[in-house]
Amino acid sequence: MNIILMGLPGAGKGTQASEIIKKYPIPHISTGDMFRAAIKNGTPLGNEAKSFMDKGELVPDEVTIGIVKERLAEEDAKKGFLLDGFPRTVEQAEALNHILAESGRKIEAVINIEVQEEELMNRLTGRRICETCGTTYHLVFNPPKVEGICDLDGGKLYQREDDNPETVANRLSVNIKQTKPLLDFYSEQGVLKNIDGSREIQDVTADVEGILTNL
Ligand code: AP5
Ligand code: ZN
Repeated sequence: MNIILMGLPGAGKGTQASEIIKKYPIPHISTGDMFRAAIKNGTPLGNEAKSFMDKGELVPDEVTIGIVKERLAEEDAKKGFLLDGFPRTVEQAEALNHILAESGRKIEAVINIEVQEEELMNRLTGRRICETCGTTYHLVFNPPKVEGICDLDGGKLYQREDDNPETVANRLSVNIKQTKPLLDFYSEQGVLKNIDGSREIQDVTADVEGILTNL
């Protein structure tokens, strides 16, 4: 199963991805997570990505396409994958089709999680993440049982550096610009599935699962 999860920052891609991989044994490939891991490890890729991410800008296509190409060549991705946050430009989408075609693969569904822009600012500025297991919470919409502490393992919750209001505003405007042509691209290929992401997390998950079972 070769799937893409699309949606503006805060639409719930990561939240839904963690539900999908509980049911389907495919790797969750998030370019944002890959860049954050590189930053944490102080690699040259991390240093380059950080300068863009801190401003809420996109990391250049050639860098992003390069890391996804390498990741998709790994053994575990050959039986399927869930891409989250990639592609984000038509150039990336075209490169992805090319990479997959080389190994006889193709995208089966692009699930686009739709949420109004006004809602996204609230979601992102209230997001908190467990430093131990990476589980995502929200101060209001999905709070932990004890403030600041992960329900699953007692880990401390932190806020992502790019979740401050100024950077979020730029992330939203940068991504909104790229979205329409990307949706047109996948619509023309007949693989685009839009879902209403403004509802409760479990209702959105039910829609995602409905799409996946019918593939
Ligand atoms: P990335 O890490 O991909 O960030 P993003 O796209 O901005 O998306 P987020 O992770 O912020 O949001 P999400 O949709 O996963 O939402 P979540 O489920 O956490 O990218 C970061 C940066 O890396 C980019 O800015 C760019 O610089 C770079 N980058 C990455 N990929 C790139 C690419 N392909 N090309 C170039 N550059 C790239 O949910 C958000 C919050 O809402 C949470 O608190 C959650 O609990 C809550 N929530 C979720 N669903 C619901 C719901 N249904 N109702 C209420 N609350 C909800
Ligand atoms: Zn945790």
